[in-house]
Amino acid sequence: MAKAIADAEYVKEIEKARRDLRTLISSRNCAPLMLRLAWHDAGTYDVKTRTGGPNGSIRNARELNHAANKGLETAVLFCEDVKAKHPKVSYADLYQLAGVVAVEITGGPTIDFVPGRKDSLESPAEGRLPDAKQGESKDLLKLPTDKALVEDPMFRKYVELYAKDEDAFFKDYATSHKKLSELGFSLKNHRSILAKGVIGFGIALTAVILGYLHELNKRTN
Ligand code: HEM
Repeated sequence: MAKAIADAEYVKEIEKARRDLRTLISSRNCAPLMLRLAWHDAGTYDVKTRTGGPNGSIRNARELNHAANKGLETAVLFCEDVKAKHPKVSYADLYQLAGVVAVEITGGPTIDFVPGRKDSLESPAEGRLPDAKQGESKDLLKLPTDKALVEDPMFRKYVELYAKDEDAFFKDYATSHKKLSELGFSLKNHRSILAKGVIGFGIALTAVILGYLHELNKRTN
């Protein structure tokens, strides 16, 4: 799927968009909606076909109309304000950044955000997101997925751990959120930017050292 497209200028734009998202999300009080938008754009990734994932395709009317995405048109609309100010930022990055900011401003952990996701206009067929109603019982107020958390011993272990250890929860949550936000996303070019940065720093340092040696040489002669 997406190949990283970030360069230094783009990274700067991302930081500006991050600030605008903070303002937008606190003024509209829409953190849960934004987190759900990020997850529903990313959660369609299919590892076998390498399609779907965090690529901004949720903005397409066809995908937005999937039953699981009900209500998310408001989140897409809110993001348009930030996109208009930072047109270079891809929708794919914008939605994932919105998710990261939503978690942070509601007191959650800081999630490492790597920019560079590419947009796609190809929406996956309906049905890739988990169905909350599967196995639902009419007598229950809880979703089957909520029930599983306390009834399945594998999940219960974590419920108990996280209930008493917030640091463990924050750490694991931040790791899992980052993974979800990067499904099918290649960091190849991002690494090359870092490499360019390191090379640039190396050249500057060499110039300073050579200048210093030259100066020293002049003085000793
Ligand atoms: C694993 C399967 C999941 C199921 C079955 C599920 C199901 C649901 C359902 C049924 C709702 C209510 C939607 C509505 O109001 O109509 C909801 C809301 C929400 N979900 Fe999930 N979810 C899942 C995973 C996730 C994940 C991984 C995240 C975030 C990382 C997430 C974040 C949220 C948030 C923030 C809301 C509240 C949205 C709002 O109030 O506007 N969910 N989810």
